[in-house]
Amino acid sequence: MVKSCCTVCLCLVLLHIFLCFVSTQSAPEGAIVTQVPGFSGTLPSKHYAGYVTVDESHGKNLFYYFVESEGKPSEDPVVLWLNGGPGCSSFDGFVYEHGPFNFEAAKTKGDLPTLHLNPYSWSKVSNIIYLDSPAGVGLSYSKNETDYKTGDLKTASDSHAFLLKWFQLYPEFLSNPFFISGESYAGVYVPTLASEVVKGIDAGVQPKLNFKGYMVGNGVTDEEIDGNALVPFVHGMGLISDDLFEEVKSECNGSFYIPTSESCAIKLAKVDELVDGINVYNILEPCYHGTEAVKITESYIRLPSSFRKLGETDKPFPVRKRMFGRAWPLRAPVRDGIVPTWPQLMNLQSAPPCTDDEVANAWLNNEAVRTAIHAAKKSVVSSWELCTNRLRFYHDAGSMIKYHKNLTSKGYRALIFSGDHDMCVPFTGSQAWTSSIGYKIVDEWRPWSSNGQVAGYTQGYDKNLTFLTIKGSGHTVPEYKPREALDFYKRFLAGLPI
Ligand SMILES: *[C@@H]1O[C@H](CO)[C@@H](O)[C@H](O)[C@H]1NC(C)=O
Ligand SMILES: *[C@@H]1O[C@H](CO)[C@@H](O)[C@H](O)[C@H]1NC(C)=O
Ligand SMILES: *[C@@H]1O[C@H](CO)[C@@H](O)[C@H](O)[C@H]1NC(C)=O
Ligand SMILES: *[C@@H]1O[C@H](CO)[C@@H](O)[C@H](O)[C@H]1NC(C)=O
Repeated sequence: MVKSCCTVCLCLVLLHIFLCFVSTQSAPEGAIVTQVPGFSGTLPSKHYAGYVTVDESHGKNLFYYFVESEGKPSEDPVVLWLNGGPGCSSFDGFVYEHGPFNFEAAKTKGDLPTLHLNPYSWSKVSNIIYLDSPAGVGLSYSKNETDYKTGDLKTASDSHAFLLKWFQLYPEFLSNPFFISGESYAGVYVPTLASEVVKGIDAGVQPKLNFKGYMVGNGVTDEEIDGNALVPFVHGMGLISDDLFEEVKSECNGSFYIPTSESCAIKLAKVDELVDGINVYNILEPCYHGTEAVKITESYIRLPSSFRKLGETDKPFPVRKRMFGRAWPLRAPVRDGIVPTWPQLMNLQSAPPCTDDEVANAWLNNEAVRTAIHAAKKSVVSSWELCTNRLRFYHDAGSMIKYHKNLTSKGYRALIFSGDHDMCVPFTGSQAWTSSIGYKIVDEWRPWSSNGQVAGYTQGYDKNLTFLTIKGSGHTVPEYKPREALDFYKRFLAGLPI
């Protein structure tokens, strides 16, 4: 009797310790997503979502959606994903690129989409955090709207504050290798945040993040190099003539991002005019003129079959329908100072040009979805938008090259990847700046493969800096080439040659 009583006591003590252990050592109960509206199966891994307050006095709250790995969550890397804009939600990545689901639009516009499992989800091999950043973007918000005037440096320090708090909520992931990734304007977010993280590690900030490296896709990097990249790109792609290329080179003295003379400006205007009707995010894709989609599809079919093959995708649903419109002014996307958000550029249309954000809108603005993922009430965050015009955003960190030099020289691994048919941030710029750093080439330009086919080209530099193209892909690589994207992602995270 005594013995069994003591066993019970011991059990209670152990149970108590166990419970304490569980409650301090694991993910917050309130954040778990138990069911995902639109999806009828069993989730292949645990999902969590919610807010982290990065500034208590302002009520500044950043929203995240966390997908545990479908492999070995306790060992697989943790990867933070950021979309760009500035002002675009990282649900772009979740819904259209490498999230756990493929979204099938409902027959009736605005109805809940049907969700299918995505066989190429990045959660197959990693734990992944989709973060809406800065406050004001997607489902993130601040109670003090002065926070919507922000810039590169503030965004990086807020995202760093988010990471420190997030890992305190999910301490069981602190020992996993940690990577930061993103695309487009996240070409600025990723290195500036990585630099904050590294400064924190060097200064002994707790919790200590097990940061290993980063990935940038078609990323904005350097005003001059990116600005000079368009003319050689459109020439190489056969969109302008040899004669015009020679003329623009001599008139502009090799500097295409700021016209150096009137005659140079005239030639550059000619270049812009020639590529004006083309979809900037993927020159192989049609740019839909709204209801004229059918007509465009016909002209698309008249493309040589080798072109159509190049643009083919494994995605079961077509990549986003493209609508007519212009993107960033060509050639000089990002300069120091204020950066217009997409809607500001587009006279307050909320979606970026050429993109159809219908399934994302239908899903993220559905009442049941918002409740299931713990989004703020509609009175706080009225409606989710792919890209917001709420921000006044300043590019105040200058060129990213100095950040890349610092990070790689400290031993952090970097993968700079580029869909080679993107005209928005063309690969010619990323190729040029990675080379300009001056590191020794350790893996000379060669094809890389996926599924037994050449999937693009890569050049490896000293200090684990890798440049990689994805053949036939547009701006958002995992949207256009999901299988290839999962392949290079997996290899990079594992530290294997791609
Ligand atoms: C919002 O933040 C600014 C800057 O910190 C501060 O001056 C202002 O008082 C705040 N407004 C409110 C309503 O708290
Ligand atoms: C052209 O560029 C070269 C090298 O950058 C420079 O020395 C030269 O002055 C430039 N010429 C003109 C006309 O701008
Ligand atoms: C680069 O590293 C040096 C030394 O660690 C540091 O002083 C400097 O601020 C860093 N620059 C950037 C842009 O991160
Ligand atoms: C590159 O990364 C690998 C894997 O993390 C590491 O073993 C190696 O030392 C790194 N090489 C350099 C030159 O930093």
